[in-house]
Amino acid sequence: MTLDNFGTWLEIDLDRIEQNFHILERTAGCKVMPVVKANAYGHGLEKVALRLEAAGASWFGVARIEEAMLLRGAGIKANILVLGHTSPTRVPHAIKENVTLTVYDFDVAKQYNEQSNAITAPIKVHAKIDTGMGRLGIQMDRSVEFLRYLQQSSCIQLEGIFTHFACADEPDADTTRFQMGRFNQILEQSGASENSSLLIHAANSAGALEFPSARFDMVRTGIAIFGLPPSQAVTLPDGLRPALSWKTRLISVKTLPPGHGVSYGFKYITKKEERIGVIAVGYGDGLRRTAGNQVLIRGKKVDIIGNVCMDQCMVQLDTLPDVQIGDEVVIIGEQNDAAISATDIANHWQTINYEVICGLAARMPRYYLKLNGHA
Ligand SMILES: Cc1ncc(COP(=O)(O)O)c(C=O)c1O
Repeated sequence: MTLDNFGTWLEIDLDRIEQNFHILERTAGCKVMPVVKANAYGHGLEKVALRLEAAGASWFGVARIEEAMLLRGAGIKANILVLGHTSPTRVPHAIKENVTLTVYDFDVAKQYNEQSNAITAPIKVHAKIDTGMGRLGIQMDRSVEFLRYLQQSSCIQLEGIFTHFACADEPDADTTRFQMGRFNQILEQSGASENSSLLIHAANSAGALEFPSARFDMVRTGIAIFGLPPSQAVTLPDGLRPALSWKTRLISVKTLPPGHGVSYGFKYITKKEERIGVIAVGYGDGLRRTAGNQVLIRGKKVDIIGNVCMDQCMVQLDTLPDVQIGDEVVIIGEQNDAAISATDIANHWQTINYEVICGLAARMPRYYLKLNGHA
């Protein structure tokens, strides 16, 4: 397989992901759970997890049980925590595949207990406390009672307790400190802080990097594993680097006369005779139909003009007289001395880098680089 085979593709450097993992382990000084939901933030679930397991990861975080099953199918033996909701009907699958579920509600916990009782095997769970995020989690006033209930349920094995921060990536630290205070309060009141067999965790990437006291036994890092900053307010440790490039090729070059429309709706009309290229990437791959996108060709930023189509879009090539059909085009990554990051694109789209990389379509081949060159 060579890269010439592909119209648009992703190049993923697993060595960098492994390096990022080790830097985070050293920085945090506790267990690091790589969060690999949403196809490992676009990087490829199984490949990323297999590399990180070989590098020593003992826990993985996913959002859904389907993702946990894919990991088991790929041969992952490490612990897996489903961070989101799992229907009680899936409890037998979770037990069979040794997957840990999140519980945050008395009713669901009761049903988990009944399901596991029916097959006389305990279900492993982590209890999630809502210390202020207002998403999943048992509310503060019932948390201690909930933890006691779980510990007394015959077929539930309470393995861990966690919470999630709403604003750890914001410049203002007060909300995270407030959530931490509440979490510590529940750990103390429930006796969990004295119980060394429970795994306590709270921090996402921003929490792990900005709030050392939030590290507890483990941090759940997603975006930082992939070498990207959670926000402008968070500084990444030295050496953390992005691991993904998004590339395509120039597939056509034409000279169009003045006054010629380009792409659907003729949002761009040539002002003079112009050299217009077509590149093989579109919104079907995750490139948004937003005006003003740019790509790198021959180490220079060039404008995407006209509407982005599903599978293609057009570039203005007047500043690059020497380009040729087949030239590599970089949407995310480096070329010569120029670079466009997922964060640059997110800023342009007025969103976050998470959304850019999670939006990289499944149809794009993921090509895994090996040390010193291509696989
Ligand atoms: C519960 C939970 N923990 C950890 C993470 C990882 O977050 P980040 O990618 O900011 O490190 C997420 C991701 O959204 C999450 O939902």
